[in-house]
Amino acid sequence: MTAHSQAFDRWIRTRFCDFNTELEHLYWQQDDKANVDNIGGDLKQQLESEGRSLILPLLNEGNTNNGFDNAFDLLGNVGLYMAACRRHEITEPSREQSSPLIEASALAMHIGASIGVTPRFATAHLTTHNKALNGSYKRFTHLDDEKVFIDYNTKGILAYKRAADAIIKIQPLGISHPITADLLHAAKQGLKDVIESNKLLFQKLDTDRFFNCVRPYYKPYRVGNEVYRGANAGDFAGINVIDLQLGLCFANEPSYSQMLVDKFLYMMPEDQLILRECMRGTSIMDEFLAAHDCHQQQWYQKNLSLFLDVCKLHGKTAIQHHNQLVERYITLPSAGIAQQHMEKITASGPPLHELLNTLEKLRDRRAAHQRDDIRTRYADIEALKSTLVSM
Ligand code: HEM
Repeated sequence: MTAHSQAFDRWIRTRFCDFNTELEHLYWQQDDKANVDNIGGDLKQQLESEGRSLILPLLNEGNTNNGFDNAFDLLGNVGLYMAACRRHEITEPSREQSSPLIEASALAMHIGASIGVTPRFATAHLTTHNKALNGSYKRFTHLDDEKVFIDYNTKGILAYKRAADAIIKIQPLGISHPITADLLHAAKQGLKDVIESNKLLFQKLDTDRFFNCVRPYYKPYRVGNEVYRGANAGDFAGINVIDLQLGLCFANEPSYSQMLVDKFLYMMPEDQLILRECMRGTSIMDEFLAAHDCHQQQWYQKNLSLFLDVCKLHGKTAIQHHNQLVERYITLPSAGIAQQHMEKITASGPPLHELLNTLEKLRDRRAAHQRDDIRTRYADIEALKSTLVSM
């Protein structure tokens, strides 16, 4: 890290976090907590100008050549600054044609293009690639609810990744390999950990605090001329590796492949490679369906039973995400919000009902629910279950 990037990092971890926290306290005291107009003007101005003065020398330095990790980390810091400016409506993408944060945009675009990721902050910056110093990692605010949110997003993502790492190793071994059972056990454990972590998040996270003081930092914002959608916890390859390798989702189905195409640059480059690789392969489900003739074999009975457990657990994580997390923290509070703030709710940009519709379809594919309007694996799962002798 250069001296300039160190100074910026120190600022992000201290004064930046203080400014945002103070502004959140001011917004929170209002009757309309979603309002940010005409409040905390001095703080907003200081936040913007201090950030700008630290970014300027970094832009002039023009040096993204200190290794991937440093470049990615610096992009995260610029991104946190731009997202906070967007949250406080120092910038507002529908008001502007291009970002007024000219230096920050230029630096973000330089780094993003040079390392092959989107030029905004991504989920990895706050979760899996967020270095703690003396026990504290980077955050927008000092609010406890933000910490709870990031802690349990990180836990959930890492648990999904453990499941995905195990599942991806099955392909070269094949479904009849004795050690495939170990991998399926490991996948089950990873998914159980996701469920446990989501359960704790659901117990601990306050709805109003999340909706009013945490979620707004994840809105879309403009970098240069383009608006980039908000970050979400799904921006890592593991979740789709599980979908595709299990066979619950299809890479050649238009709405699913659209989602993959849209999310590629929001993932770390190594995740992009993993996902590309697994879009080209066959699924474990198809291999079991093709192995119907072996259904009396011991390996088939053992491994299929474990495989179906994994599918069931993956479905459970999706049901939990949609019916608990999305419902409590997005859908219900959105119903009570003043109309003028409605269009600003979702991180990805589309109207709320469209977003919910997309998430519901994902839930039903992952849970292999019976639907006649989209392709799910309901019938195939039922067919496989019927070949199990113990069921
Ligand atoms: C308060 C907690 C959470 C809420 C309210 C929430 C809400 C959402 C919403 C609304 C989206 C749609 C994207 C968008 O807004 O643009 C989304 C996407 C996603 N979230 Fe969450 N989420 C939460 C926590 C988590 C956690 C802990 C995980 C697990 C690691 C997770 C995994 C995902 C995934 C994988 C996606 C991408 C879509 C998909 O593939 O299903 N979320 N989330």
